Amino acid sequence: MSRLKSLLYLSRSDIEKLDIPMNNVIEIMEKAFLEKAAGRVEMPPKPGIHPQKDAFIHAMPAYLSGIRVAGIKWVSGFPENPARGLPYISGLLVLNDVESGFPICVMDCTWVTAMRTGAATAVAAKYLAREDSEVFGILGCGVQGRSNLEALLNVCGNLSEVRSYDVIAENQRRYVEEMTAKHGVKIVAVPSPREAVVNCDIVVTAGPILKNPKPAIEASWFKNGGFACSLDFDSYWKAEAMHSMDRFCTDDVEQLAYYKYQGYFSDIPKVYAELNDVVSGKKRGRESSDERIMSMHLGLAIEDMVTAQLIYEKAKKKNVGIELPL
Ligand SMILES: NC(=O)c1ccc[n+]([C@@H]2O[C@H](COP(=O)([O-])OP(=O)(O)OC[C@H]3O[C@@H](n4cnc5c(N)ncnc54)[C@H](O)[C@@H]3O)[C@@H](O)[C@H]2O)c1
Repeated sequence: MSRLKSLLYLSRSDIEKLDIPMNNVIEIMEKAFLEKAAGRVEMPPKPGIHPQKDAFIHAMPAYLSGIRVAGIKWVSGFPENPARGLPYISGLLVLNDVESGFPICVMDCTWVTAMRTGAATAVAAKYLAREDSEVFGILGCGVQGRSNLEALLNVCGNLSEVRSYDVIAENQRRYVEEMTAKHGVKIVAVPSPREAVVNCDIVVTAGPILKNPKPAIEASWFKNGGFACSLDFDSYWKAEAMHSMDRFCTDDVEQLAYYKYQGYFSDIPKVYAELNDVVSGKKRGRESSDERIMSMHLGLAIEDMVTAQLIYEKAKKKNVGIELPL
């Protein structure tokens, strides 16, 4: 019971030091979706507060009874931060003991958020993208632009070209330089959003989330047979582009309805399936090479908790972090 008298604190660098590979996160993500499909998760839609325009601080609790993990992420996204030299995303995650409810670990949540979001895109691509996808278009060359590329390379064996777009030329330049060195695939900087969509087999949008967006992506830009994953709500996709999809999926219907109620997603298509239903086989994934498929990812607390558990267990094993008294 000694662990109930203290908790483990893990900083961002403690977590990075553990060097957990992306494929481990993708595996555990798929398990989390199967648990959701089996009805073994509790995950109320995230309540939030909004201290600045287009900024959020969200509370994301989840319990997965089959995997025996419980906790909450308290995560901020402040769009003005990069201009101040700070990351857009920051926050903490607390894991609780499922027997006593006691907190057992507090960790920085930036690594978790980056990795689990990329991993969820990869799981979606595994079921919804064409197996022979070669060209990846990324809009937003930040943290998510990086982790999503890394994750997709794990599941899309034929990916060989990346077309990257960012509104800030320096961010785009650094992305091309770093990602080329890291992954050894062809990464090009393109001068407009259009060129990061046209003729791409997979498109991920990872710019800022805007409550009143002026979306750029048109239906005609998107390739038949393509797979799109949006991480920035409907900020980048025109309504007609989303309606042109043969299947429109999401990671969580309840959360999507909750955001609609809050004034986001004014014109989106009917949801064909939740990602967990596709992973579990309850709903069919891609069936032909010319279908246009989109998955709208809001980000789920179950994804955070399974990733945090992976981190906690590895940190305990390797004696990483600081024990703090309760
Ligand atoms: N759905 C999810 O699960 C999930 C999880 C984490 C983050 N997100 C969202 O993903 C987005 C990116 O997050 P991040 O942590 O990578 O942020 P980041 O600040 O690290 O990167 C964002 C990048 O987008 C660029 N950018 C800004 N406006 C742009 C535009 N109109 N077109 C193209 N690029 C633009 C910025 O210059 C920056 O390089 C945010 O909207 C965030 O809320 C979603």
